Amino acid sequence: MNIRSFSLEQWEEVVTLWRRAGIQLSRSDTPAGIQKKLERDPQLFLIAETEEGRIIGAVMGSYDGRRGWINHLAVDPDCQGQDLGTRLLQELEQRLAGLGCDKINLLIEPENGVVQAFYEKQGFNRDELIFMEKWITPAQTSAKGV
Ligand SMILES: CC(C)(COP(=O)(O)OP(=O)(O)OC[C@H]1O[C@@H](n2cnc3c(N)ncnc32)[C@H](O)[C@@H]1OP(=O)(O)O)[C@@H](O)C(=O)NCCC(=O)NCCS
Repeated sequence: MNIRSFSLEQWEEVVTLWRRAGIQLSRSDTPAGIQKKLERDPQLFLIAETEEGRIIGAVMGSYDGRRGWINHLAVDPDCQGQDLGTRLLQELEQRLAGLGCDKINLLIEPENGVVQAFYEKQGFNRDELIFMEKWITPAQTSAKGV
């Protein structure tokens, strides 16, 4: 298994993986939306692939100059429990540290609370905050999504 930076030609395969893993997608995850993300910090969007080149894991990290953020971490359901999620997060953490990032944040959908145990094993602590959001462009599709 190799971990490398994502490239836009892999969009369809990664979206299929995210869907299979139950990740909630939004209008920011279209090719145009992902292209905008790649213009900022392409090295923080990682994929894990088999020796044959099949994508079996992905995580979209970002750095806003103050905090690192983790989005859409997913491992193919057939490959879960084999340390892939841990390895993707470790690689992302190293890359964020290399950019001077001190702290990483992430959000978990309330119906996916079980995954908290996974993040705790990676050293994350839970904090009680109220999440608020506002879309500032007109919606063409569902407005759901972090
Ligand atoms: C969460 C996810 C990325 C973890 O990836 P993974 O490759 O299966 O995890 P690992 O094999 O690296 O697991 C590391 C440890 O976390 C535990 N763990 C993994 N997924 C877990 C889960 N959903 N709930 C509780 N514990 C979990 C493992 O049992 C393992 O524990 P151990 O070290 O004691 O054996 C993967 O299960 C997944 O894609 N889930 C669906 C999508 C999702 O919920 N993403 C997170 C969005 S916030």
